[in-house]
Amino acid sequence: MSSNYPKIPANEVTPEHIFLNRRKFMVGAGSAVGALALAACAPSLTSPAGPAGPSGDSAAVVDTGPEPVAGAATDELGDPLNTFQEITNYNNFYEFTVDKQAVARLSQDMPTSPWSVAVGGLVNNPGTYSVEDFKSMYDIEERIYRLRCVEAWSMVIPWLGFPLRQLLETVEPTAEAKYVRFETAYMPEHMPGLKSDWYEWPYVEGLRLDEAMNDLTLISTGLYGRDLLPQSGAPIRLVVPWKYGFKSIKSIVKIDLVAEQPTSLWMAAAGNEYGFYANVNPEVDHPRWSQGSERRIGETGRRPTLMFNGYEEQVAYLYEGMDLTANY
Ligand code: MTE
Repeated sequence: MSSNYPKIPANEVTPEHIFLNRRKFMVGAGSAVGALALAACAPSLTSPAGPAGPSGDSAAVVDTGPEPVAGAATDELGDPLNTFQEITNYNNFYEFTVDKQAVARLSQDMPTSPWSVAVGGLVNNPGTYSVEDFKSMYDIEERIYRLRCVEAWSMVIPWLGFPLRQLLETVEPTAEAKYVRFETAYMPEHMPGLKSDWYEWPYVEGLRLDEAMNDLTLISTGLYGRDLLPQSGAPIRLVVPWKYGFKSIKSIVKIDLVAEQPTSLWMAAAGNEYGFYANVNPEVDHPRWSQGSERRIGETGRRPTLMFNGYEEQVAYLYEGMDLTANY
């Protein structure tokens, strides 16, 4: 299974001469992504009372980072990677704004270093880790995954990170632990979207313990050979490629092993539309739109959505005997 995914340490993905060959490029208004975004998905709630985000047509973000590089040009299905510009300029991060094209600009001042992640709850070895700790404890590998948003757009992203399983093995869940609960940083002074009282902040997500232990479940620290930018969930986020994108919680500060199924932010906001499982499933429509097809950012037209986002072989065993319509 894991042989489908290149496992390349970050320092091999991005050779030093490429890191040093810095360039500047302007992104933002008028890009192809920006134009497509207007035709994008419906707002996530029937009464979209998200924060009044700016229109996204103002100042561009100046990117002075190293050249984005990836270990392959396609995923294992042959689908081309989305560009770095696409991935970092069309984002969902409601703590900042509901305007996907404005997230990059509005999130630039979020402090991401130093950063610590408290891992605890029902574990034998609770601990608090910096991102540098994680990078020295675990091999950082590249995983090229499809990201399918519940809103029916998708991308192919070359993540860097390590399997969550490795961290769980470090902290040793006790026998009572059945779920993993994740929490995003709550920084009102930097996150204007937190003013919206439509959501119960902080952003919370959860996985069943066996889902969390699956080899595909990644804690990501970067993409395209670089550390994560704020809009992508810097400095550390979850990536669960067979589930709708909202499960892939950003900018994590807390991970707890718990006995009861956690209530996610989206379940609390609209539990009839966003369930705990949120497995990508073309046969179970969202109450307000079809999940049978999707729009790949950068492409015209639509493509069929794949069961479990194309990862059926690796994850179907987790849901044997479960009613996937009831457990949406
Ligand atoms: N995490 C937090 N903390 N806040 C968010 O609003 N949005 C989710 C998910 N993680 C979100 C989040 C949704 S709906 C999606 S589709 C993905 O992040 C988008 O990730 P991307 O912007 O890196 O593509």
